[in-house]
Amino acid sequence: MIEKDFIPSAYELKITEGKVSYKSPSNIALVKYWGKKENQLPQNPSISFTLDACATTTQVFYNKLPKPSDDFSFELWFEGKTKDDFKPKIKTFLSRIESYLPFLKEYHFKIETSNSFPHSSGIASSASGMSALALCLVAIERQLNPDISDSFFLKKASFLSRLGSGSACRSIEGDIVQWGNHKNTKGSTDLYGIKYPYEVHDNFKNYYDTILLVDKGQKQVSSTVGHNLMHDHPFAVQRFSQAHDNLDKLITIFKNGDLKEFIKIVESEALTLHAMMMTSMPYFILMKPNTLEIINKIWEFREVSKTNVCFTLDAGANVHVLYPENEKDVVFQFIKDELIAYCENQQYICDRIGFGAKKL
Ligand code: DP6
Repeated sequence: MIEKDFIPSAYELKITEGKVSYKSPSNIALVKYWGKKENQLPQNPSISFTLDACATTTQVFYNKLPKPSDDFSFELWFEGKTKDDFKPKIKTFLSRIESYLPFLKEYHFKIETSNSFPHSSGIASSASGMSALALCLVAIERQLNPDISDSFFLKKASFLSRLGSGSACRSIEGDIVQWGNHKNTKGSTDLYGIKYPYEVHDNFKNYYDTILLVDKGQKQVSSTVGHNLMHDHPFAVQRFSQAHDNLDKLITIFKNGDLKEFIKIVESEALTLHAMMMTSMPYFILMKPNTLEIINKIWEFREVSKTNVCFTLDAGANVHVLYPENEKDVVFQFIKDELIAYCENQQYICDRIGFGAKKL
Protein backbone atom coordinates (compact mmCIF):
# COMPACT_ATOMS: atom_id res chain seq x y z
CA MET A 1 0.00 0.00 0.00
CA ILE A 2 1.08 3.56 -0.54
CA GLU A 3 0.23 6.75 1.33
CA LYS A 4 -2.57 7.85 -0.97
CA ASP A 5 -4.43 4.56 -0.39
CA PHE A 6 -5.27 5.97 3.03
CA ILE A 7 -7.06 9.01 1.60
CA PRO A 8 -10.77 8.15 1.55
CA SER A 9 -13.33 9.14 -1.05
CA ALA A 10 -16.40 11.10 0.13
CA TYR A 11 -18.40 9.45 2.92
CA GLU A 12 -21.97 8.49 2.09
CA LEU A 13 -23.37 8.40 5.59
CA LYS A 14 -24.15 11.51 7.59
CA ILE A 15 -23.84 11.07 11.35
CA THR A 16 -24.42 13.92 13.78
CA GLU A 17 -23.01 12.48 16.99
CA GLY A 18 -21.56 9.40 18.57
CA LYS A 19 -18.94 7.91 20.83
CA VAL A 20 -16.06 5.47 20.39
CA SER A 21 -13.65 4.00 22.89
CA TYR A 22 -10.38 2.02 22.69
CA LYS A 23 -7.77 0.66 25.03
CA SER A 24 -4.34 0.51 23.46
CA PRO A 25 -1.12 -0.84 24.97
CA SER A 26 2.44 0.34 25.04
CA ASN A 27 5.19 -1.73 23.45
CA ILE A 28 8.85 -2.45 24.11
CA ALA A 29 11.26 -2.43 21.17
CA LEU A 30 13.75 -5.28 20.82
CA VAL A 31 15.39 -3.73 17.74
CA LYS A 32 15.14 0.00 18.31
CA TYR A 33 13.75 2.78 16.15
CA TRP A 34 16.18 5.66 16.60
CA GLY A 35 16.41 8.17 13.77
CA LYS A 36 13.68 9.32 11.41
CA LYS A 37 13.16 11.03 8.07
CA GLU A 38 10.44 13.46 6.97
CA ASN A 39 6.83 12.47 7.72
CA GLN A 40 7.65 10.18 10.59
CA LEU A 41 9.35 7.63 8.38
CA PRO A 42 11.95 5.53 10.21
CA GLN A 43 15.62 5.39 9.29
CA ASN A 44 15.68 1.70 10.11
CA PRO A 45 13.23 -1.13 10.74
CA SER A 46 12.31 -2.00 14.33
CA ILE A 47 10.46 -4.79 16.12
CA SER A 48 8.71 -4.89 19.47
CA PHE A 49 6.78 -6.97 21.93
CA THR A 50 3.34 -5.49 22.44
CA LEU A 51 2.70 -5.02 26.16
CA ASP A 52 -0.43 -5.81 28.09
CA ALA A 53 -0.72 -3.92 31.41
CA CYS A 54 0.75 -0.57 30.33
CA ALA A 55 -2.09 0.92 28.31
CA THR A 56 -4.09 4.04 27.54
CA THR A 57 -7.87 4.10 27.45
CA THR A 58 -9.40 6.80 25.27
CA GLN A 59 -13.01 7.75 24.62
CA VAL A 60 -13.92 10.21 21.92
CA PHE A 61 -17.35 11.88 21.81
CA TYR A 62 -18.07 13.60 18.52
CA ASN A 63 -20.71 16.14 17.58
CA LYS A 64 -21.31 17.59 14.14
CA LEU A 65 -20.66 21.33 13.97
CA PRO A 66 -23.23 23.58 12.24
CA LYS A 67 -20.52 24.29 9.67
CA PRO A 68 -16.93 23.03 9.30
CA SER A 69 -14.56 25.05 11.51
CA ASP A 70 -11.36 26.72 10.34
CA ASP A 71 -9.36 25.02 13.03
CA PHE A 72 -9.78 21.73 14.89
CA SER A 73 -12.43 21.92 17.56
CA PHE A 74 -11.61 19.64 20.49
CA GLU A 75 -11.28 19.48 24.23
CA LEU A 76 -8.93 17.17 26.07
CA TRP A 77 -9.57 15.49 29.41
CA PHE A 78 -6.81 13.50 31.09
CA GLU A 79 -7.74 11.36 34.08
CA GLY A 80 -10.86 13.40 34.73
CA LYS A 81 -9.33 16.89 34.34
CA THR A 82 -8.94 19.17 31.35
CA LYS A 83 -5.37 19.08 30.19
CA ASP A 84 -4.47 22.02 27.99
CA ASP A 85 -0.74 21.31 27.93
CA PHE A 86 -1.40 18.16 25.87
CA LYS A 87 -3.38 20.12 23.28
CA PRO A 88 -0.53 21.37 21.04
CA LYS A 89 0.68 17.80 20.55
CA ILE A 90 -2.83 16.64 19.64
CA LYS A 91 -3.28 19.60 17.32
CA THR A 92 -0.05 18.77 15.48
CA PHE A 93 -1.24 15.19 15.21
CA LEU A 94 -4.65 16.20 13.84
CA SER A 95 -3.08 18.46 11.22
CA ARG A 96 -0.74 15.66 10.13
CA ILE A 97 -3.64 13.25 9.64
CA GLU A 98 -6.28 15.64 8.30
CA SER A 99 -5.87 14.66 4.66
CA TYR A 100 -6.48 11.01 5.63
CA LEU A 101 -9.55 11.81 7.76
CA PRO A 102 -11.25 14.71 5.96
CA PHE A 103 -14.13 14.86 8.47
CA LEU A 104 -11.93 16.19 11.28
CA LYS A 105 -12.98 19.83 10.94
CA GLU A 106 -16.66 18.96 10.66
CA TYR A 107 -17.01 17.81 14.25
CA HIS A 108 -16.29 18.90 17.79
CA PHE A 109 -14.41 16.19 19.70
CA LYS A 110 -14.30 15.58 23.40
CA ILE A 111 -11.31 13.36 24.05
CA GLU A 112 -11.15 11.63 27.43
CA THR A 113 -8.03 9.66 28.16
CA SER A 114 -6.36 7.85 31.05
CA ASN A 115 -3.32 5.65 31.55
CA SER A 116 -3.06 2.40 33.49
CA PHE A 117 0.40 3.41 34.71
CA PRO A 118 1.27 6.38 36.93
CA HIS A 119 1.62 9.57 34.92
CA SER A 120 5.03 10.54 36.22
CA SER A 121 6.54 7.08 35.95
CA GLY A 122 8.92 7.98 33.16
CA ILE A 123 7.05 5.41 31.05
CA ALA A 124 6.51 6.77 27.56
CA SER A 125 2.80 7.20 27.05
CA SER A 126 3.08 8.39 23.45
CA ALA A 127 2.85 4.88 21.97
CA SER A 128 -0.27 3.86 23.87
CA GLY A 129 -1.79 7.35 23.85
CA MET A 130 -1.38 8.10 20.16
CA SER A 131 -2.46 4.62 19.09
CA ALA A 132 -5.60 4.77 21.27
CA LEU A 133 -6.55 8.13 19.77
CA ALA A 134 -5.79 7.00 16.21
CA LEU A 135 -7.97 3.92 16.74
CA CYS A 136 -10.86 6.06 17.99
CA LEU A 137 -10.61 8.34 14.95
CA VAL A 138 -10.53 5.47 12.46
CA ALA A 139 -13.46 3.92 14.33
CA ILE A 140 -15.39 7.16 13.73
CA GLU A 141 -14.43 6.98 10.07
CA ARG A 142 -15.74 3.44 9.99
CA GLN A 143 -19.09 4.66 11.30
CA LEU A 144 -19.16 7.03 8.32
CA ASN A 145 -18.10 4.23 5.99
CA PRO A 146 -19.04 0.78 7.32
CA ASP A 147 -17.44 -0.89 4.27
CA ILE A 148 -13.95 -0.49 5.73
CA SER A 149 -12.53 -4.00 6.19
CA ASP A 150 -10.93 -5.21 9.42
CA SER A 151 -7.53 -5.51 7.83
CA PHE A 152 -7.67 -2.01 6.31
CA PHE A 153 -8.89 -0.66 9.65
CA LEU A 154 -5.81 -2.03 11.46
CA LYS A 155 -3.42 -0.78 8.79
CA LYS A 156 -4.92 2.67 8.78
CA ALA A 157 -4.93 2.87 12.58
CA SER A 158 -1.24 1.97 12.60
CA PHE A 159 -0.48 4.37 9.72
CA LEU A 160 -2.16 7.27 11.57
CA SER A 161 -0.59 6.30 14.91
CA ARG A 162 2.83 6.57 13.27
CA LEU A 163 2.08 10.17 12.37
CA GLY A 164 1.42 10.83 16.08
CA SER A 165 4.46 8.97 17.39
CA GLY A 166 6.59 6.53 15.44
CA SER A 167 6.61 3.73 17.98
CA ALA A 168 2.80 4.03 18.37
CA CYS A 169 2.33 2.25 15.05
CA ARG A 170 3.63 -0.90 16.75
CA SER A 171 0.89 -0.85 19.42
CA ILE A 172 -2.23 -1.71 17.42
CA GLU A 173 -1.73 -5.47 17.20
CA GLY A 174 0.13 -8.11 19.17
CA ASP A 175 2.11 -9.96 20.04
CA ILE A 176 5.20 -9.10 18.00
CA VAL A 177 5.10 -6.20 15.56
CA GLN A 178 7.59 -5.05 12.96
CA TRP A 179 7.71 -1.59 11.46
CA GLY A 180 9.92 -0.41 8.63
CA ASN A 181 11.14 -1.80 5.32
CA HIS A 182 13.26 -4.86 5.77
CA LYS A 183 14.07 -6.90 2.70
CA ASN A 184 13.67 -10.27 4.39
CA THR A 185 10.35 -9.54 6.11
CA LYS A 186 7.44 -9.96 3.74
CA GLY A 187 4.89 -7.17 3.83
CA SER A 188 7.14 -4.87 5.88
CA THR A 189 6.81 -1.16 5.19
CA ASP A 190 7.87 2.20 6.57
CA LEU A 191 4.22 3.31 6.58
CA TYR A 192 2.77 1.11 9.32
CA GLY A 193 3.49 -1.78 11.64
CA ILE A 194 2.69 -5.36 10.68
CA LYS A 195 2.18 -8.40 12.82
CA TYR A 196 5.44 -10.39 12.66
CA PRO A 197 4.70 -12.76 9.77
CA TYR A 198 6.92 -15.78 10.50
CA GLU A 199 7.08 -18.70 12.89
CA VAL A 200 7.65 -17.92 16.57
CA HIS A 201 8.92 -20.62 18.95
CA ASP A 202 6.97 -21.30 22.14
CA ASN A 203 9.89 -19.91 24.19
CA PHE A 204 8.74 -16.43 23.16
CA LYS A 205 5.06 -16.89 23.92
CA ASN A 206 3.88 -14.97 27.00
CA TYR A 207 7.27 -13.34 27.57
CA TYR A 208 7.43 -11.30 30.78
CA ASP A 209 8.56 -7.69 31.15
CA THR A 210 9.00 -6.19 34.60
CA ILE A 211 9.63 -2.48 34.27
CA LEU A 212 11.89 -1.06 36.95
CA LEU A 213 11.22 2.62 37.53
CA VAL A 214 14.70 3.90 38.22
CA ASP A 215 13.93 7.52 37.44
CA LYS A 216 10.39 8.77 37.26
CA GLY A 217 11.29 12.30 36.23
CA GLN A 218 10.44 14.01 32.99
CA LYS A 219 12.41 12.80 30.00
CA GLN A 220 15.75 14.58 29.75
CA VAL A 221 15.73 14.29 25.97
CA SER A 222 12.43 14.45 24.08
CA SER A 223 12.03 11.84 21.39
CA THR A 224 12.06 14.50 18.67
CA VAL A 225 15.39 15.88 19.88
CA GLY A 226 16.67 12.33 20.30
CA HIS A 227 15.80 11.21 16.79
CA ASN A 228 17.30 14.38 15.36
CA LEU A 229 20.62 13.49 16.93
CA MET A 230 20.92 10.76 14.31
CA HIS A 231 21.15 13.35 11.54
CA ASP A 232 24.87 13.80 10.82
CA HIS A 233 25.68 11.27 13.52
CA PRO A 234 29.16 9.80 12.90
CA PHE A 235 27.91 6.21 13.31
CA ALA A 236 24.45 6.56 11.76
CA VAL A 237 25.03 4.54 8.58
CA GLN A 238 26.56 1.66 10.51
CA ARG A 239 23.78 1.73 13.07
CA PHE A 240 20.94 1.67 10.54
CA SER A 241 22.53 -1.23 8.74
CA GLN A 242 23.07 -3.07 12.05
CA ALA A 243 19.32 -2.87 12.74
CA HIS A 244 18.67 -4.70 9.44
CA ASP A 245 21.22 -7.39 10.35
CA ASN A 246 19.73 -7.81 13.81
CA LEU A 247 16.28 -8.30 12.31
CA ASP A 248 17.70 -10.98 10.02
CA LYS A 249 19.19 -12.74 13.03
CA LEU A 250 15.91 -12.48 14.95
CA ILE A 251 14.03 -14.30 12.19
CA THR A 252 16.18 -17.38 12.86
CA ILE A 253 16.08 -16.88 16.64
CA PHE A 254 12.30 -16.54 16.78
CA LYS A 255 12.01 -19.72 14.74
CA ASN A 256 14.40 -21.94 16.66
CA GLY A 257 13.78 -20.47 20.13
CA ASP A 258 17.45 -19.74 20.86
CA LEU A 259 17.21 -17.61 24.00
CA LYS A 260 20.97 -17.10 24.35
CA GLU A 261 21.15 -15.50 20.91
CA PHE A 262 17.97 -13.52 21.62
CA ILE A 263 19.58 -12.01 24.71
CA LYS A 264 22.66 -10.96 22.73
CA ILE A 265 20.59 -9.04 20.19
CA VAL A 266 18.25 -7.45 22.72
CA GLU A 267 20.91 -6.25 25.16
CA SER A 268 23.20 -5.08 22.39
CA GLU A 269 20.34 -3.08 20.86
CA ALA A 270 19.62 -1.39 24.20
CA LEU A 271 23.26 -0.48 24.75
CA THR A 272 23.65 0.67 21.15
CA LEU A 273 20.68 3.01 21.55
CA HIS A 274 22.39 4.58 24.55
CA ALA A 275 25.75 4.55 22.78
CA MET A 276 24.19 6.56 19.96
CA MET A 277 23.11 9.17 22.51
CA MET A 278 26.51 9.24 24.15
CA THR A 279 28.27 9.74 20.81
CA SER A 280 26.00 12.36 19.27
CA MET A 281 26.50 16.13 19.37
CA PRO A 282 25.20 17.29 21.78
CA TYR A 283 25.74 14.11 23.83
CA PHE A 284 23.66 12.69 26.64
CA ILE A 285 23.90 9.98 29.26
CA LEU A 286 20.39 8.82 30.03
CA MET A 287 21.31 5.93 32.28
CA LYS A 288 21.54 6.56 36.01
CA PRO A 289 23.94 4.83 38.39
CA ASN A 290 21.11 2.49 39.41
CA THR A 291 20.52 1.53 35.78
CA LEU A 292 24.07 0.17 35.69
CA GLU A 293 23.71 -1.50 39.09
CA ILE A 294 20.65 -3.33 37.80
CA ILE A 295 22.36 -4.39 34.57
CA ASN A 296 25.30 -5.79 36.51
CA LYS A 297 23.01 -7.64 38.91
CA ILE A 298 21.11 -9.16 35.98
CA TRP A 299 24.36 -10.35 34.41
CA GLU A 300 25.57 -11.90 37.67
CA PHE A 301 22.24 -13.58 38.35
CA ARG A 302 21.99 -14.92 34.81
CA GLU A 303 25.40 -16.53 35.19
CA VAL A 304 24.71 -18.24 38.50
CA SER A 305 21.06 -19.16 37.95
CA LYS A 306 21.50 -20.29 34.33
CA THR A 307 18.26 -18.51 33.50
CA ASN A 308 17.58 -16.38 30.46
CA VAL A 309 16.72 -13.10 32.12
CA CYS A 310 17.90 -10.05 30.18
CA PHE A 311 17.31 -6.32 29.99
CA THR A 312 16.38 -3.68 27.51
CA LEU A 313 16.15 0.10 27.80
CA ASP A 314 14.12 2.94 26.40
CA ALA A 315 15.50 6.40 25.88
CA GLY A 316 15.74 6.84 29.66
CA ALA A 317 17.01 5.31 32.90
CA ASN A 318 14.25 2.74 33.49
CA VAL A 319 15.05 -0.91 32.89
CA HIS A 320 12.77 -3.46 31.24
CA VAL A 321 13.61 -6.90 32.64
CA LEU A 322 12.62 -9.55 30.10
CA TYR A 323 12.25 -13.28 30.83
CA PRO A 324 10.45 -16.33 29.49
CA GLU A 325 7.27 -17.58 31.12
CA ASN A 326 8.77 -20.83 32.41
CA GLU A 327 11.35 -18.88 34.44
CA LYS A 328 8.90 -16.38 35.85
CA ASP A 329 8.91 -17.55 39.47
CA VAL A 330 12.64 -17.66 39.99
CA VAL A 331 13.32 -14.46 38.07
CA PHE A 332 10.55 -12.51 39.76
CA GLN A 333 11.86 -13.61 43.16
CA PHE A 334 15.31 -12.32 42.14
CA ILE A 335 13.77 -9.02 40.99
CA LYS A 336 12.02 -8.57 44.33
CA ASP A 337 15.05 -9.58 46.38
CA GLU A 338 17.77 -7.79 44.46
CA LEU A 339 16.51 -5.19 42.01
CA ILE A 340 13.55 -3.36 43.51
CA ALA A 341 15.91 -1.60 45.93
CA TYR A 342 17.34 0.35 42.97
CA CYS A 343 13.93 1.72 41.89
CA GLU A 344 12.66 5.15 42.82
CA ASN A 345 10.30 4.57 45.78
CA GLN A 346 10.71 0.83 45.08
CA GLN A 347 8.28 1.17 42.19
CA TYR A 348 8.00 -1.26 39.32
CA ILE A 349 5.33 -2.44 36.87
CA CYS A 350 4.62 -6.09 36.12
CA ASP A 351 3.87 -6.54 32.46
CA ARG A 352 4.05 -9.21 29.77
CA ILE A 353 3.45 -9.67 26.08
CA GLY A 354 -0.05 -8.63 25.04
CA PHE A 355 -2.26 -9.03 22.04
CA GLY A 356 -2.96 -5.50 20.93
CA ALA A 357 -5.59 -2.82 21.25
CA LYS A 358 -9.21 -3.52 22.18
CA LYS A 359 -12.46 -1.80 21.35
CA LEU A 360 -14.41 -1.04 24.51
C1 DP6 B 1 13.85 4.64 22.13
O1 DP6 B 1 8.18 6.75 19.00
O2 DP6 B 1 8.73 8.11 21.04
O3 DP6 B 1 11.55 4.05 22.41
O4 DP6 B 1 8.29 9.23 16.58
O5 DP6 B 1 9.32 11.13 17.81
O6 DP6 B 1 7.25 10.05 18.71
P1 DP6 B 1 8.52 9.86 17.92
O7 DP6 B 1 9.46 8.89 18.76
P2 DP6 B 1 9.12 7.66 19.68
O8 DP6 B 1 10.56 6.98 19.76
C2 DP6 B 1 10.75 5.79 20.44
C3 DP6 B 1 12.16 5.47 20.54
C4 DP6 B 1 12.53 4.30 21.42
C5 DP6 B 1 12.77 3.04 20.61
C6 DP6 B 1 11.57 2.34 20.05
O9 DP6 B 1 10.49 2.35 20.67
O10 DP6 B 1 11.73 1.72 18.98
